[in-house]
Amino acid sequence: MTWIDLGNPFPKHPHDLYKPFRWVTGKIQHLPAGLPVASPAVLEALQQRRTVRQFAALEDAGLADFLWYACRTYESWPSDLGFELEYRASPSAGAIHPIHLVIKRPHDERWWLYEPRGHFLAELTTAPKAFEGLWEHSQQLLNAPHATLILFLAEPGKALAKYQEGCSLIWRDAGAQIATMALAACGLGLNFCPLGITGEPWASALAEESQLVGVGLAFLGLAP
Ligand SMILES: Cc1cc2nc3c(=O)[nH]c(=O)nc-3n(C[C@H](O)[C@H](O)[C@H](O)COP(=O)(O)O)c2cc1C
Repeated sequence: MTWIDLGNPFPKHPHDLYKPFRWVTGKIQHLPAGLPVASPAVLEALQQRRTVRQFAALEDAGLADFLWYACRTYESWPSDLGFELEYRASPSAGAIHPIHLVIKRPHDERWWLYEPRGHFLAELTTAPKAFEGLWEHSQQLLNAPHATLILFLAEPGKALAKYQEGCSLIWRDAGAQIATMALAACGLGLNFCPLGITGEPWASALAEESQLVGVGLAFLGLAP
């Protein structure tokens, strides 16, 4: 067995100043705010949640509801790390939220960045080239042609600005996001399945010098 030791994260004193990645974006799609929905109480959802691997296409209103409850930013504030800190449904080490969500809807060749502070999607104009073959790779693992694909795209420099040996924090944040999304999907009556693949080597091709790295994918959709 090979256990890869990612080190023991500890806050840096002083911390670094990080310059966030500059996205190359095109069209913006604003999403509607989530409406109140009848859903199981959280303790009920903890018992009900199951991975279900069949998917019918999720329309934009359903995707907007999911992102609203599972992923949007509830509160943000400036920090001296070079970027804002945030509260979202998912916990994140240092409130840093170093993992971006990139979305590919079925029957749309484009990839979209979810902006959780404004609750909108921004088209990633360079992604079709960088991610060519990634959707097919995910389908090899689980045939889900009608599912929405979510890529967890980490920007490790955000967490590493504050923590030395902070790499394991990224993976733990990814796990926290998976759990939060799975419970939100359960609450909204949607099917959700995390994937063990990371999205590499495609994910990091979007940026130079390893500024972005794939830390997982998931399928989301309606129950057929
Ligand atoms: C990190 C992670 C990776 C996973 N990868 C896959 C996968 O590649 N394919 C798949 O069908 N299910 C995948 N799953 C789902 C698990 O198989 C599922 O959670 C497990 O069977 C337990 O079922 P439950 O989620 O209904 O409790 C993954 C789950 C996690 C947390």
